Parts: sequence; C-alpha cells; structure tokens
Amino acid sequence: MKAAVLRDFMTPLAVQDVSIPKPTESEVLIKVEVCGVCHSDLHVADGDWSQLAGIVKKPLILGHEVVGTIVEVGSAVQGVKIGDRVGVPWIHWTCGKCEFCREGNENLCIRQQITGVTVDGGYAEFVKAPATHVASIPDNLASEQAAPLLCAGVTVHRALKQSRITTGQRLAVFGVGGLGHLAVQIGCELGADVTAIDISEEKLALAKSLGASRTLNAASDKVVQQLRSQGGVHVALVTSAAKAAYDMAFYCVRPTGVLLAVGLPAQDICFPPILMAAGEIRIQWNKVMDTNLTGTFLFSQAVGKAMIRQEHGKIINMSSVAGLGGASSDLQAIGYHASKGGVIAFTKDLACKWAAHNIQVNAIAPGWFPTHMSSWILEHRKESLLAKIPLHRFGGDHDLKGAAIFLASDASAYVTGHVLVVDGGQTAW
Ligand SMILES: NC(=O)c1ccc[n+]([C@@H]2O[C@H](COP(=O)([O-])OP(=O)(O)OC[C@H]3O[C@@H](n4cnc5c(N)ncnc54)[C@H](O)[C@@H]3O)[C@@H](O)[C@H]2O)c1
Ligand SMILES: [Zn+2]
Ligand SMILES: [Zn+2]
Repeated sequence: MKAAVLRDFMTPLAVQDVSIPKPTESEVLIKVEVCGVCHSDLHVADGDWSQLAGIVKKPLILGHEVVGTIVEVGSAVQGVKIGDRVGVPWIHWTCGKCEFCREGNENLCIRQQITGVTVDGGYAEFVKAPATHVASIPDNLASEQAAPLLCAGVTVHRALKQSRITTGQRLAVFGVGGLGHLAVQIGCELGADVTAIDISEEKLALAKSLGASRTLNAASDKVVQQLRSQGGVHVALVTSAAKAAYDMAFYCVRPTGVLLAVGLPAQDICFPPILMAAGEIRIQWNKVMDTNLTGTFLFSQAVGKAMIRQEHGKIINMSSVAGLGGASSDLQAIGYHASKGGVIAFTKDLACKWAAHNIQVNAIAPGWFPTHMSSWILEHRKESLLAKIPLHRFGGDHDLKGAAIFLASDASAYVTGHVLVVDGGQTAW
C-alpha cells in the first residue's frame, strides 16, 4: 500500500510502498477514507516535544484522526464487523487495568499506545487498530466531518466540560485552527459568549460564521486590554501552538476564572505565581440560590439559543403546584411565591424576545400533568387550583408535544425518562 512515511525528525514525509498491516486476533484492518491533519502531527514530525520524542516509532506513519471501513477482523474480535465505518483516535489502546484507566481517566493510561506516534497511523491506504478502541461513526455523519472530532473535537470538548463554563459566561478561544474552530462551536452550544482570537483574518471570519460574538486579531488589536475592560473572561481556552497566545491569554482571565491549556508549544510557558493563585480558584455551583429556578432559567436560555438557530421550538417552564400549600411558615410561602413569580417573569420575558424566532415559551405555573396524586387533587381541589393558575386551564398532552420542559421545583426529582411528572408537595395535600 502507499503511505506517507516519516523517516526522521525534521525531514519531509516520503510517499512510499509499505506492506499492508496484518491485524492480530483482537484487531481490525481499516481501509482509510480520510485522515485529519492535526498540528500535533507537525510537532511529532519535527521532534519538537522533547518529552515525547523518545517514544516516537521510526519509521512512522503519522495521522490520528482516521475514518475508514473495516475490511478484515481478527478471530477474537467482537462488537464490530467487516463493512462498519469506524474512527481511529489519538488514544490507540489503553490497558483498562492501571490506576488511571480504573478511575475513568484512560486518556492518562500509563501503558497507552498513541496512533501515529507509538504505532502507525492513518496517512496511508490501510491502518490497523484494536477493535475495542475504534469509534463507530453514525451514518448521518460524513467521514470528513467525523475525523477532526477524533482528536481536535474530543480534546476541546473535554476541556470545556471540565472548565464547567455555563450559559452567559465569557469564553475566549485563542487560535481558530483545527481545535479552535470546534471549540468556538462547542462553546456556543454550551451557551457561552465566545470571543475568538487569532492572527489570521480568514480564521477570524470563520469563527464569526461559526457563532463567535466577537473576534480580535492578536497581531493588531489590544486583546488583553479589550477583554479586561469587559471584566476579563471566565474561561480562556488556548488552542494555539504559539507561546505568544498563552502569554496573552493568561492576562485576559478574570479572577476566579480558568485558563485551559490545550495548545502545546514546544517552549516552556511561565506565569507569575502571585496572579496564578487568584486565577486558579474554580467557581462551584452556588446552592444558596434557588437552584431550581436558576437551573430552569439557564436551561431555557441554552435550549432557546439552539432553537433560535432552527427558527422554531417550544419551551415550557413548569413550577410545581403543591408546594404552595405545603409552606409551613410565611417565610417559606414567600419563598415559594417568589420562585414561582420568577419562573413566570422570565418566561414572559423570553416569550416576548423569542416570538420573532417562532419559539413559543410558556410557563405552566403551577405545572400540572396527570399523575396518581394529581387525579386525587383534581377531584378534591379543582376549583381552588384553577383559581391559582394564571391561564386558568390545566396543561395537557398537546402542551407537551415537541417541547423542551424544565421543572422549577423539588419535583424535578420525579422526572422519569420521557414522562414528566409534576408531583410535588405530598404533605400539602
Ligand atoms: N492537549 C491536547 O490533548 C491536544 C490535542 C490535540 C492538539 N493539541 C495541540 O493544540 C495545538 C493546536 O492544534 P491545531 O491542530 O488546532 O493547530 P492549527 O495550526 O490548526 O491551529 C492553530 C491556530 O492558532 C493560530 N495562532 C497562531 N499564533 C497565534 C497567536 N499568537 N494567538 C492566537 N492564535 C494564534 C493560528 O493562526 C491557527 O489558526 C497544537 O499545539 C496541538 O499539538 C493538543
Ligand atoms: Zn491531534
Ligand atoms: Zn491503563
């Protein structure tokens, strides 16, 4: 088969004939359809990560964002078969037994093999991989779209998830390359307000088209000054291989914010410890607030953003009914009223804002769908209940159809699969 082979660091790849790999009993042979080019391939080819250079196989076939079709399976292979379209990621194999694997951090496995680093990768017509570690590609995802997710995508997704960035927070993505252009999209999906920074106008235009609300050119704009004047960012994600990007990003993080180090310059980077002490603090979810109400609000916002892109959708914010009667003191009753009032108020606000996008936002407050207990209440307390319901009607199945629903109540514990049951306040009734 033809393959692009790295014979030594800092030398051009040579396209040459090599033998087709022979899968072992637990491996599959894949006919490569596409393979992404990650900047890490360039670092490996240049040997510029001294810490990794020692484990690089030579000669080596690079490429760790591989998608293709299985053409041969080893005798012990289970779970995948000839004809399946699969991906081969950076993590080629993990032991499943070491401390890190058992903790669920298999990306840190001490015995791991790395595709296109310690074993041959996908810059070739065929590649082999352990059947246990290939990723099935869904039919509706094109191979060239799936490939970058296998390294660039999973890397920035994990980083952003771990940063716990939430709706409305400011995210700065430094570098809109393979990783960064996916980070911009994932950041937007998570509801963040994304600023993209690069030195290329073309990349900045791409970021804008992918949802970034603002772009800055690191070569000509005063990036630190501009971001700090807006209070700094909650999360700065560096996806550039340039040390200069880190030097800039660190100073854009607001106190208590997070600097996410993903891009891997060959040089060491350093920050003043006195500023790091402040920068390293993580924000935890604040339980003093009414988390149900806040959660409902944030979920509505996040889902609404996705619906705005589709130009249609239906959101129902529900608050439980029974809690009102269950309030054991005036203070508690005020709390319940305030929380229900809050749901209604922000629902009205969102309903007005998003009507132009063909998105219906309703509050069913008090929320009401048939359950064993609600039937009892309906029989005995219907009149007093209807009097409390602003729309003066109970919600029905038609209200639920096609809607994203959020409970603003302790009754959220009763959310079961696709059936949503509002059943709070047993003590009240
Ligand atoms: N941590 C991980 O697990 C992991 C995984 C994959 C890749 N990486 C690393 O991430 C880095 C990026 O990979 P990629 O494939 O996205 O690279 P890329 O070359 O596609 O993208 C890098 C981008 O950074 C921009 N850039 C250059 N200088 C800049 C500066 N001073 N400020 C802002 N942007 C600047 C470039 O114009 C480019 O758009 C590499 O170092 C790669 O090795 C890390
Ligand atoms: Zn990569
Ligand atoms: Zn392991």
